[in-house]
Amino acid sequence: MTAMPPPAVLPARHRPEPSCESAVVVSHAPLSPTIFRLVLRVPRICLAAQAGQFVMISVPEVAGSPIQLPRPMAIHRRRASSGDIEVVYNVHGRGTDALSRARAGDVLLVTGPLGRGFDLSSSAESLLLIGRGIGVCSFMTLVEDATHAGIASTLVLSARSDNRVIGRDDCAELGAKAITVTDVDGSSSVEALDRRLDAEFDDLPPGLIVVCGSTRLAGLAMTLAARWNVPLQVSLEAHMACGLGYCHGCAVPGTADPSREGPLVCSDGPVFQLRSDGHAAA
Ligand SMILES: Cc1cc2nc3c(=O)[nH]c(=O)nc-3n(C[C@H](O)[C@H](O)[C@H](O)COP(=O)(O)OP(=O)(O)OC[C@H]3O[C@@H](n4cnc5c(N)ncnc54)[C@H](O)[C@@H]3O)c2cc1C
Ligand code: FES
Repeated sequence: MTAMPPPAVLPARHRPEPSCESAVVVSHAPLSPTIFRLVLRVPRICLAAQAGQFVMISVPEVAGSPIQLPRPMAIHRRRASSGDIEVVYNVHGRGTDALSRARAGDVLLVTGPLGRGFDLSSSAESLLLIGRGIGVCSFMTLVEDATHAGIASTLVLSARSDNRVIGRDDCAELGAKAITVTDVDGSSSVEALDRRLDAEFDDLPPGLIVVCGSTRLAGLAMTLAARWNVPLQVSLEAHMACGLGYCHGCAVPGTADPSREGPLVCSDGPVFQLRSDGHAAA
């Protein structure tokens, strides 16, 4: 497996002030036995959210037993007309299991938008977004912005099997090209994907590559970014207790000295840049 090099913080940009909203659950439906799409009415967060930002969702207690820490979730889609955001999540442990029991009409405390999102300014006429499983959810808001700006997006939607592929409907709705690859038919292997993307983009490389959800695919993205000499951004995940830069539980290893604390995923990221030669950008 390719090791992920230390990421570098993107240049500072204006960020919206986060707010805390009592979010009504508009709808909540399974996409597969363990994956759910949760629609939350949070007008202030929805209107302020930049592509790639996330929210912290306070999870309802289970059988009188409170779940203390909120859980970080990417803002998968923004629906400005209704003030709704969509979150797509996989049931992982106790918190997401409790979240999966929320019903339409319930109220959850949601804080956001949080973190630094994607930087679209460096992109040219097209984007290549490479995502694995639930990682796809971190970048669909970037596709929204790209579509709005007339920038073409091609998404690799990688998953173990076809019924776990996330984002097909969203791509169709946003007019983005989806390349679905799975472990079942072998099309998700790095070698197969490298050949496919090389054939797709070698004549006209994308202006920006974005990757999320897989160290293996991050390695491929670095190879492609070096081959085509294009910038690369990665959206990272970490255990988060606060999501606000207070607890320092989400720090990644430092660039120069791995024993020193590096950037915080919640407030310096979750989106970082990677140099295409595999080192952190300056
Ligand atoms: C920015 C971001 C976006 C994400 N987006 C999505 C998404 O769109 N969809 C999705 O399915 N998942 C997403 N995740 C992952 C998701 O947050 C986790 O799967 C979820 O928190 C797991 O919670 P759990 O209680 O089910 O699992 P558990 O593993 O039982 O609990 C994880 C929780 O334990 C706590 N915790 C454990 N270790 C530590 C530690 N060292 N320091 C601090 N707290 C700790 C934290 O509260 C953490 O959230 C995202 C994560 C991040 C950071
Ligand atoms: S989660 Fe607390 S500092 Fe990042």
